[in-house]
Amino acid sequence: MPSNTGSLVPRRTIGIGLVGFGTVGQGVWKHLEAQRADLNARLGIDLDLVRVAVRDARKPRAMSVEAARMTEDPFSVVDDPRVHIVCELMGGTEVAREVTLRALRAGKVVVSANKALIAEHGEEIFRLVREHGGRFFFEASVAGGIPIIKAIREGLVANRFDLICGIINGTTNYILSRMEKEKLPYETILADARRLGYVEADESLDLDGVDAFHKAGILAYLAHGKWVDAEHALVQGIRKVTLEDIGRARDFGYRIKLLAVIRRDFRSGWLTVGVYPALLPLDKLLARVDGAFNGITLVGDVVGAQTFVGRGAGQDATASAVIGDIVDALIALRDGGTKGLSAADLDFLDRLGEGVRMAEMHEIIGKFYLRLTLADRAGVLADVYRVFAEESLSIARVVQYEHEGKGTGTVTLSTYETSELVMERVLAKLRALNTVLEEPLLLRIFTPET
Ligand code: NAP
Ligand code: HSE
Repeated sequence: MPSNTGSLVPRRTIGIGLVGFGTVGQGVWKHLEAQRADLNARLGIDLDLVRVAVRDARKPRAMSVEAARMTEDPFSVVDDPRVHIVCELMGGTEVAREVTLRALRAGKVVVSANKALIAEHGEEIFRLVREHGGRFFFEASVAGGIPIIKAIREGLVANRFDLICGIINGTTNYILSRMEKEKLPYETILADARRLGYVEADESLDLDGVDAFHKAGILAYLAHGKWVDAEHALVQGIRKVTLEDIGRARDFGYRIKLLAVIRRDFRSGWLTVGVYPALLPLDKLLARVDGAFNGITLVGDVVGAQTFVGRGAGQDATASAVIGDIVDALIALRDGGTKGLSAADLDFLDRLGEGVRMAEMHEIIGKFYLRLTLADRAGVLADVYRVFAEESLSIARVVQYEHEGKGTGTVTLSTYETSELVMERVLAKLRALNTVLEEPLLLRIFTPET
């Protein structure tokens, strides 16, 4: 007895090729294999995991794939006529770019987790999407398992966002959280993060804030239609943050997080994108996002503040986002329609980006925290106060730590609101004092809405 009329309709076989079979690729394979029968039934298709490309086919792996499906030639996956959806999960920006462009030129659907590639070559990729009528899905490129791209493009489409801020790098959040809780050395925690599959192949991308900047760039493009390059942004990592700094921030009632901040002033037209370690009040939701979790607050003019929290890195969280995109790609191939960024979406984003300019330093307002290493002499604080007075910048709070007996003393202070420009002038004058013995540590204080 036929179970339903759908079973009489010829089913279409849709082939998937994975380029890259590391942390993310194996996660995608594992969960797709496990869900294949359900997905086939729900979508009325036959899903075929056709081919997998790796750099070294002899490398031992947790997931085994029959030899006939493995190749060391990524382009053979793209060129295989049985492959309709190419999942680029190899990372890097050179071969990955070639793979992506070749697949789009061939009219294939591309699913990507590669934020570095999108941030650096997004304009070129989306131009090809337009020219070839292809489709490009990239949910896994930002915030791991949190569907933040869908949120901006679909659920919150009614909004303009004057602020998007959050923790969008799992590795650095994992390191800072464990430094605070367990007082472990940085290197020990980094080794654990590597083992757990959070860290990029080039780990400086994580540690120096570049990965978070790539993700912030993608969100800024989707929200404001403008690609921002690193020259026009403040990008700092966590390498200068010490265990002592984490403790001192706590003394002020704050927790240090690597934060991405995308601010837009719709009246003046400016946009600013930055990634930096920031002090967040301990009671705020984002300050409580720990481990490899990510948290993003979007402030929309219609909906107000919405915060999304979830796993931001690692095999399963990322596979979840990639498979969400694969399902959208399968539906697009099955039905046509406008899943993914269409040419009309891209035209809209172009128009949105037309009036946007990057903010000037005097327009970016905030509060700051400074750690100063001063000579252990009477009157040194008076010099510091004089610099602040000269720039009419009010100090909100000062803590002077007991001197370390090495001829130096540490002072931390926070400011009231001022501009980046004034703060830069203060910093330059402090550096010039012969009683300031080390490069001051300047951190931004940020109070999220939730
Ligand atoms: P990974 O573990 O280093 O895996 C990379 C895979 O690509 C490996 O299987 C490698 O082959 C293969 N590969 C590299 N170069 C190749 C080449 N020239 N030809 C063929 N295969 C090649 O990296 P991953 O953590 O899975 O990350 C993959 C992508 O997802 C990156 O863009 C990353 O930024 C992004 N991402 C990662 C996470 C995460 O939590 N890990 C989260 C979100 C997004 P071998 O195995 O033979 O070396
Ligand atoms: N290395 C990245 C992170 C992976 O730690 O956030 C997820 O994009």
